[in-house]
Amino acid sequence: MSKVIGIIAGSLRKESFSRKIAKALLPMVPEGFTFRIISIEDLPVYNQDFDDHDHVPESYVKFRDEIRNIDGIIFITPEHNRSVPAALKNAIDVGSRPAGKNVWDGKPGAVFSNSPGNLSAFGANHHLRQSLVFLNIPVMQQPEVYLPHIDKAWDDNGNLKDEDLKDFLQKAVDAYMVWFQRNSGS
Ligand code: FNR
Repeated sequence: MSKVIGIIAGSLRKESFSRKIAKALLPMVPEGFTFRIISIEDLPVYNQDFDDHDHVPESYVKFRDEIRNIDGIIFITPEHNRSVPAALKNAIDVGSRPAGKNVWDGKPGAVFSNSPGNLSAFGANHHLRQSLVFLNIPVMQQPEVYLPHIDKAWDDNGNLKDEDLKDFLQKAVDAYMVWFQRNSGS
């Protein structure tokens, strides 16, 4: 059976560049693997009472199952105020609980950050890595994937037109697959 790599775009925005990057990665999947985009848009803000008092929202149950059923995970994060967007942090928190049932545990990961600006969401990239250490996601070190001026990369139909960026993303995906094999125990 093919291994499944989840892709999460850390934005709720309809025309999100992060979502466009997630879609652009789909055809880059190597043979024997499946890339699956996982939505974070239906998750209410995490409240521990949901877990403690048996009021777990259906969307949490679905999301936690989706993460349990993937073998690795690529995060595409934009940056909000030099950190991880709340919607993405929320999804990470939802998957991390209840205590002792962290669904992220041990799944090899990668962080790709992007911004219309020239700092490429460096702050979000590294804040995200801090949480992933705690959740025991071994995160690819190299290449670091910082994508600046991402608003310029698309044609009118939302397809990736920047060939250099396409090549770099393919190299990053290839490196991630090596990282995945090394860290997945498969
Ligand atoms: C931003 N943006 C932004 N960009 C950046 O490079 N560094 C930052 O700290 C911030 N801060 C920030 C805060 C908030 C609340 C918003 C709404 C936006 C701009 C951001 O990069 C831009 O809106 C992107 O288009 C968001 O990513 P998506 O939705 O295109 O994936």
